Amino acid sequence: GLKKKEVNVLCLGLDNSGKTTIINQLKPANHPNHLGPLSEEWKHVSQTQAQEIVPTIGFNIEKFKSSSLSFTVFDMSGQSRYRSLWEHYYRESHAVIFVIDSSDKLRMVVAKEELDTFLNHDDVLNKKIPILFFANKMDLRDAQSSVKVSQMLCLERIKDKPWHICASNANKGEGLQEGLDWLQDQIA
Ligand code: GTP
Ligand code: MG
Repeated sequence: GLKKKEVNVLCLGLDNSGKTTIINQLKPANHPNHLGPLSEEWKHVSQTQAQEIVPTIGFNIEKFKSSSLSFTVFDMSGQSRYRSLWEHYYRESHAVIFVIDSSDKLRMVVAKEELDTFLNHDDVLNKKIPILFFANKMDLRDAQSSVKVSQMLCLERIKDKPWHICASNANKGEGLQEGLDWLQDQIA
């Protein structure tokens, strides 16, 4: 058959925002909270099974296949000491998933700073890469709406790149499919 288009997806966001949990939801269903495969479109291709989530050290690489695309996801650590690694992957990325803990009001400004640094980077400035935002942890009492998160991060100012924000609960897999479908449409 035809060779699938190779796509690199970079997953960014502060530590504890839920990046690894989101990516884990795309893996085969043995996660205790997994409600079943997200979609036939998203087939995990490596042998890794869904795992207990631990803070990411450095980064992890995961591979997924859809009907037409072959995805390599770079799941970066959000801890401050590892954030300097992010920029090394900007150049080769075709799409970015930026995850926000919607309940973490104290660090929303830090998330915005990291987003700004990303958007102003030389390898990102003039690139039309799609950015998918997950306003994650919507199940928590303190969670702010995706509209509010969007305002706090000033997303409306992003005019030169397609972007989209989805409310999500990564533990239950809620809201992920809508976002990933959007992202796939942008890339295809
Ligand atoms: P780093 O690897 O340190 O950058 O963190 P991360 O962004 O990969 O976060 P991770 O996926 O490890 O999740 C951090 C914690 O948040 C875990 O205990 C998850 O179970 C929890 N978590 C993730 N998503 C949600 C969610 O939607 N709701 C709730 N309540 N908890 C979540
Ligand atoms: Mg992680």
